[in-house]
Amino acid sequence: TDLSTLEVEQPTTSTTENLKQPFVIGVAGGAASGKTTVCDMIIEQLRDQRVVLVNQDSFYHNLTSEELKKVYEYNFDHPDAFDTEQLLRIMEKLKHGHAVDIPKYDFKSYKNDIFPARRVNPSDVIILEGILIFHDPRVRDLMNMKIFVDTDADVRLARRIRRDTAEKGRDIGVVLDQYSKFVKPAFDDFILPTKKYADIIIPRGGDNHVAVDLIVQHIRTKLGQHDLCKIYPNLYVIQSTFQI
Ligand code: ADP
Ligand code: C5P
Repeated sequence: TDLSTLEVEQPTTSTTENLKQPFVIGVAGGAASGKTTVCDMIIEQLRDQRVVLVNQDSFYHNLTSEELKKVYEYNFDHPDAFDTEQLLRIMEKLKHGHAVDIPKYDFKSYKNDIFPARRVNPSDVIILEGILIFHDPRVRDLMNMKIFVDTDADVRLARRIRRDTAEKGRDIGVVLDQYSKFVKPAFDDFILPTKKYADIIIPRGGDNHVAVDLIVQHIRTKLGQHDLCKIYPNLYVIQSTFQI
C-alpha cells in the first residue's frame, strides 16, 4: 500500500443524503398471489426496524357516479385505475423523511377518502405492495429491491373466490365474471410482463419460508451498511480511494 498517494475525499452532500434514505422494497404479483402475506412475514422478521407498508390499493381513483352505476364494467386491474401521480408524490415525501397521510381504500364502497387517512411516519424500510407496482418506470426507480410473488393462476382464483365472497360479500357469479373479463386478461397483458423487472421471484408466496429468510438477510445487510455509513460518512470513500 502506498500511503503517500492516499487521498481522503469529502463525500458530496447528495451522496450522504442518498445513504440516509430509506430502503424501498417493491412487492408485485397477481391478485391473491400472497403479496400481503409475504410482506407481513418480512415485517414480522424486521420487528426491530422501523418498517412501513404502503399498498397500491390506497391509490385507486374514486369512481364517478356514472362509473359507480356500472361498477361491474369497471376494470380495477388496468394501470389507469390507479392515481400513480399521487403515489409518486407520497413516496417522494416518505423517501425524504417526511410524514405522510395515505388514503384508506374501501373495497365495498369503492371510495378512497375514508376519514381519517392513515398517518405514516418516516421509516428505515418502505415496502410498496400491489399488482401493478412495477408498471410505471418512475415507481420502479424508487425501489432498491424488487420482488415478484409467483403463484399459479388456479390457486390465485381459488383464493380470490374465497376472499371476495367471504370478506367483500360478493356473489360468486360476479367474482367469476370479473375474473374472466378483467382480472385474467390484465394479468397477462400488464402484470406478468413486469416480472422481468424483479430481482427476486418467489414461487408459492408465503409458503416459501426460505425465500423470505434470504430476503430479510439481504435487507439486514443493506441496513447495516447504511448505518455504518451514517456513523462514518467517509468510510467507503476512504476504501474506494486507497491505492493498493
Ligand atoms: P395478495 O396481497 O397478493 O392479494 P394475500 O396475501 O392477501 O394476497 O392472500 C390472498 C388470500 O389468500 C388471503 O385470504 C390469504 O389469507 C390467503 N393466502 C395467502 N397465502 C396463503 C397460503 N400460503 N396458504 C393459504 N392461504 C393463503
Ligand atoms: O390485494 P390485491 O392485490 O388482490 O388487490 C387487487 C385486486 O383487487 C384486483 O385484482 C382488483 O380486481 C380487485 N379490486 C376489486 N374491487 C375494487 C378494487 C380492486 O375487486 N373496488
